[in-house]
Amino acid sequence: MSVLVKNGQNVRNIVRALVEEKGREKSELIPILQDINGQFGYISDEAIKELSERMNIPGSHIYSVATFYRMLSTEPRGEHVIQFCESAPCHVAGGRLVWEKLKQELGLEKGETSDDEKWTLLTTSCLGVCGVGPVMIVDNNIYGNVTPEQVPGILSQYN
Ligand code: FES
Repeated sequence: MSVLVKNGQNVRNIVRALVEEKGREKSELIPILQDINGQFGYISDEAIKELSERMNIPGSHIYSVATFYRMLSTEPRGEHVIQFCESAPCHVAGGRLVWEKLKQELGLEKGETSDDEKWTLLTTSCLGVCGVGPVMIVDNNIYGNVTPEQVPGILSQYN
């Protein structure tokens, strides 16, 4: 298994430093996982193992937390993450056609990451802005009233 390296430090060193900085309290688990996710794009097995040793929390528990929250990932994600709202109000506002167009443009199915690691296509439940559905988020940018015709233009902003 390859060792993840960021800025010359491997993931274990970074996890160690995070635990040192934030402390070993169980309440720090999610903030630490968010930090690891932010730095590496996902939480690797190696990171979970190190965290388990440092915080004295079973790896299985850390894994279940990491897979429970949508903001965290245990799989590598692309450079740009798309979250498409799949709840009913967006669906009836035309979301299905937008979703089909997204999948077609990216050549991806739900949950997949492109081979060049540029895109990850995810769905999400209601984002609370149903009035402007269909809605999608690319990274931290939210797009409302999206039509299938707008999809290529939105994606091209990330090229
Ligand atoms: S249903 Fe899509 S934002 Fe509410």
